[in-house]
Amino acid sequence: MKTAYALAGLPALALAFPGMMGVNSREEALQQLKETRMAEQAEKEKRQVLGGLLGSLTGTVGGVINDLTGAVGSVTEALNPDNKRPEPGYTFQAPGPNDSRGPCPGLNLLANYGYLPRNGHVNYGQVVEATARGFNMGLDLATVLAVFAILTDGDIPSQSWYLGTGPSNVGGLNRHDTVEADISPNREDYYLGCGNNHALSSRIFTQNVQFASQDPNKEFSLNAMGNQWAANGAFSVKNNPYLYLFPFPSIVSIAAYNFYPQFFSNGTYGAGGVANYESIASIIGAQFDEKTQQFEYVPERWPENWYRRATEYDAVQALTDGFTIIYPHNPIPMVFPQLANVQNLTPQDILCVIYEGITSITPLFLGGTVESGANAITSLVSLLDSAGLSNTTLGCPASAESQNGASLLYPNASQKGGPLNLPPTASDGNAGNNVYNKVYFTKAPTTPQCNNQASGVNP
Ligand code: HEM
Repeated sequence: MKTAYALAGLPALALAFPGMMGVNSREEALQQLKETRMAEQAEKEKRQVLGGLLGSLTGTVGGVINDLTGAVGSVTEALNPDNKRPEPGYTFQAPGPNDSRGPCPGLNLLANYGYLPRNGHVNYGQVVEATARGFNMGLDLATVLAVFAILTDGDIPSQSWYLGTGPSNVGGLNRHDTVEADISPNREDYYLGCGNNHALSSRIFTQNVQFASQDPNKEFSLNAMGNQWAANGAFSVKNNPYLYLFPFPSIVSIAAYNFYPQFFSNGTYGAGGVANYESIASIIGAQFDEKTQQFEYVPERWPENWYRRATEYDAVQALTDGFTIIYPHNPIPMVFPQLANVQNLTPQDILCVIYEGITSITPLFLGGTVESGANAITSLVSLLDSAGLSNTTLGCPASAESQNGASLLYPNASQKGGPLNLPPTASDGNAGNNVYNKVYFTKAPTTPQCNNQASGVNP
């Protein structure tokens, strides 16, 4: 399985990162022409697909949900009782007002059951263990995510971070453009949400439910999530003047679309497990209110009789699903200069860029500007090495090594909309930690929503 994924090329990425402008030969010119045609064709198809997709989203949400709950639910996999979650001793408890929760439904849920500290202040070791036990996330994938969270949103000496906002509204996963990014599966963009990049958006999940209802098996399949990415991407490109796709956070954001079926299915997706409404809505904390026809954001919780996937899902699988299935639904150009002229990228190429970027990155510290000593970085790199992401294991070419990892992974961090020059938000009130039991964004925010609707209304 791992090998098959590893060998898969990622031609869609080449399309996203346009080739170098200089042309040295006729062959190159022809190649460029071919690529331009392909890009035009892809753009045309994208517009047709989007037009069709959005045009066909009709009917009341309640009706669509009945359709979804009626049609799915039968897991055909022989389920191993060892994979049932939660395990004895881990019980659901809604977070209290001072417990930190944020944009990641997976980590929020693990904290709600005590797999992670319930106060939401977590460290590397806890997260690696909890994500494996709770969801069967591979060590390399959990490590890459955790290392970035520590580097950009957390505390390096203690290898820890907050799931939402850190003390005094500083740091934590809510911090924009570091690990958290725009075009998320079910959160609004930082600018358009007026700083609320972390609460479940009722209107986006409504759209997601509708895409799932169009799926042949009525599931939140990879294809349904690809349609969700296409629609969300088109919305952000149109309405968010601060949209800037940084390589690392964008990769997280794209892979998060495949996390829906791959981690939240009941059973193993692709091997008899189902990415059904019952599992997804419960795990991401979307509670439908018949009266208002809106989704209230409630604490993330496993449904009854839920089984985690039986096999690990690792970094290479995540990148492959993300870039061969989700991203091609709407290949929005990204700034990824080092990969611009690579025609046949593999997930390893991308992991190499990430690995080598980290080895020389300047941390975007909590305040945003302080440089950290080399020792701290060395300790984080050793985490990547011990998770199997070393240079030698990946076979990264020496030429890909960067002298300046910060500009590789966060190019032009200070430009408009970048992590060191965030979009303006009129209200800090949306930075809050525990934001449950409210309805957020009943309508699409085409301009920043800083009123009650953005910060949530009591249902
Ligand atoms: C290992 C450490 C992890 C870190 C540091 C992390 C961090 C994040 C962050 C910062 C986001 C926001 C991304 C965005 O803006 O789109 C996010 C989103 C997400 N994460 Fe995690 N995550 C981790 C583990 C997990 C696990 C184990 C799961 C699933 C079991 C998961 C599932 C998701 C999903 C589905 C989203 C998208 C939420 C949405 O917008 O609908 N993550 N995560």
